[in-house]
Amino acid sequence: MTTWFITGASRGIGRELTEQALARGDRVAATLRQPERLDDLAGKYGELLWRRRMDVTDTAQVERVLGEAFAAHERIDVVVSNAGYGVFGAAEDLADEQVERVIATNITGSVQLARRAVPWLRRQGGGVFVQLSSQGGHLTFPGFAIYHATKWGVEGYFEALAKEIEPFGIKTVLVEPGMVRTGFYDAAERVPVSAPYRGGPADTPALPVENMVGSQSGVAHAIIEAALCEDPPLRLLLNSDAYDAVTATVRRRLAAWESQRDLAYAADTDYVGA
Ligand SMILES: NC(=O)c1ccc[n+]([C@@H]2O[C@H](COP(=O)([O-])OP(=O)(O)OC[C@H]3O[C@@H](n4cnc5c(N)ncnc54)[C@H](OP(=O)(O)O)[C@@H]3O)[C@@H](O)[C@H]2O)c1
Repeated sequence: MTTWFITGASRGIGRELTEQALARGDRVAATLRQPERLDDLAGKYGELLWRRRMDVTDTAQVERVLGEAFAAHERIDVVVSNAGYGVFGAAEDLADEQVERVIATNITGSVQLARRAVPWLRRQGGGVFVQLSSQGGHLTFPGFAIYHATKWGVEGYFEALAKEIEPFGIKTVLVEPGMVRTGFYDAAERVPVSAPYRGGPADTPALPVENMVGSQSGVAHAIIEAALCEDPPLRLLLNSDAYDAVTATVRRRLAAWESQRDLAYAADTDYVGA
């Protein structure tokens, strides 16, 4: 039987993962800011569901809850760092507190969770660490800069971490969905653009919110399949919009770099003046 540890299990992808895992007969250590939001699942699944209050920005709480979860279960096979949210608005217009809080949640929360989960996974002889990233960890939309900073941040951190912990039998999976029909876009903070940005790119983010193709249950199912397969992939690009946009973006980036090859090599030579 597989045991999961999941952050942000109250709604969206985190809750869907919790429900699908329980429906498979797995155990779930679900963490969320309001544990009572899983009362219905607790009634249905009894001891298979273990839950604790946990805000990922409270590192002391993360450490304590992780310790309790590993103590309460024989082993935890998959840790899912899912909690996160977005902030829309011109980068200049965001309040300092908004910048700091989204970084504290999406990056610092994920980093500190991983730093505290890895010793447990190492001691039990391995496991899988799943980190929710996004197509927005490879491409960008104006009006969403701070969110991209957090997802590009987790891409770099977890790619490097994956190499460090692979020798301990710990696999890392970066999940990169496109736009998924969850409450994410309703929950996102929206900062009205100030006068200089009105009518500009930050004022009309090119996010086709009305035409989201991603299915919450489809994404959760893909995460479960990937985490439990024999050789979990480092990157799990999900949904047709993300597949098309990320592959096209990376191709364009590669072509731009290749067109600059001579410039890149020339910078190896000392500059001696004109
Ligand atoms: N939906 C998309 O289009 C999409 C696309 C790519 C990536 N993602 C990523 O997928 C993950 C899940 O998003 P979702 O679509 O499921 O969004 P969602 O429906 O808005 O759910 C977000 C979850 O994160 C939790 N959360 C936020 N801040 C938290 C904190 N400080 N501590 C603990 N939990 C916190 C929320 O809890 P509360 O109920 O307490 O607020 C909620 O459970 C996020 O990392 C997001 O960036 C989403």
